[in-house]
Amino acid sequence: MKNGKVAVVTGAGGTLCSAMAADLASRGYRVVLVGRDIKKLEATESKIRAAGGECLPLSADVRNAGQMENLHGRVLSEYGPCRVLINGAGGNQPEAVATISEFKPEELSPGFSGRGFFNIDIEKFRDVADVNIMGTVIPCRIFAADMARSGGGSIINFASMNTYRPLSRVPAYALSKAAVSNFTQWLAAYLAPAKIRVNAIAPGFFVNERSAKLLLKPEGGFSERGAGIIAHTPMRRFGSAEELVGCMNWLIDDEKSAFVTGITIPIDGGFLSCSGI
Ligand SMILES: NC(=O)c1ccc[n+]([C@@H]2O[C@H](COP(=O)([O-])OP(=O)(O)OC[C@H]3O[C@@H](n4cnc5c(N)ncnc54)[C@H](OP(=O)(O)O)[C@@H]3O)[C@@H](O)[C@H]2O)c1
Repeated sequence: MKNGKVAVVTGAGGTLCSAMAADLASRGYRVVLVGRDIKKLEATESKIRAAGGECLPLSADVRNAGQMENLHGRVLSEYGPCRVLINGAGGNQPEAVATISEFKPEELSPGFSGRGFFNIDIEKFRDVADVNIMGTVIPCRIFAADMARSGGGSIINFASMNTYRPLSRVPAYALSKAAVSNFTQWLAAYLAPAKIRVNAIAPGFFVNERSAKLLLKPEGGFSERGAGIIAHTPMRRFGSAEELVGCMNWLIDDEKSAFVTGITIPIDGGFLSCSGI
């Protein structure tokens, strides 16, 4: 069942967006898989092709406007203009995560072995802000121009629970995911005349390669942080990537969500609704 529409999915080699890309391909989209590591994209490609779908893995850094312009040229020549953009590339870096949850006087001493707000390497902090913020802005600018020229389209950005209230220890990630939601609103208002709807999904906690180290113990079971999250999640479990797909399909459906733009939808097992008391 081919619908011929082109969907560009950034972060398509990752946990959440590989599932989204596979679902789009199963619905007949021609899916462009974007990420830096071509091997990860090829793993997603193999699954899509094995299921009879069509896709094009293209390596680029979403923070790099020149690389993304080149990639756009390939997309136009091989597939045509983009109709759906899923901006999943992003995430955190261990070096930008504090090892303490609140200020300790020791962090101001030269011998401090942990990482507080005053010790996080500012370049790592900047990298996290850059990938989540500019890594969303740049693909939006490039591919929304296609949509504006061809009569409309739909964009989904990736926010987080940090969009609503910052979690401890992750200042760069938290501020950048708040920015994603704000930018989603701004862009939705700006692009409404072009018939482009812009929304965001805010996943709760889904275990990926990086977060596994933070949420799970190597010997099995939850880490202290993982257990804290589960205790604040009424459904008492982490999510699975497939549980985002229904929301994505609703948001990109120009009939079913025709009047929906500028919103951020939490998919979180109830995390935001639970005060913990
Ligand atoms: N998992 C969760 O619980 C959760 C919760 C809330 C929000 N989110 C957000 O949801 C999105 C997807 O998360 P995920 O769990 O699927 O993470 P993931 O498994 O780490 O996948 C993210 C993908 O983004 C790609 N990427 C990172 N930096 C990039 C760059 N500069 N240019 C191009 N691609 C880049 C990575 O591939 P390369 O390294 O090959 O480039 C990676 O495959 C992220 O924005 C994340 O912040 C996740």
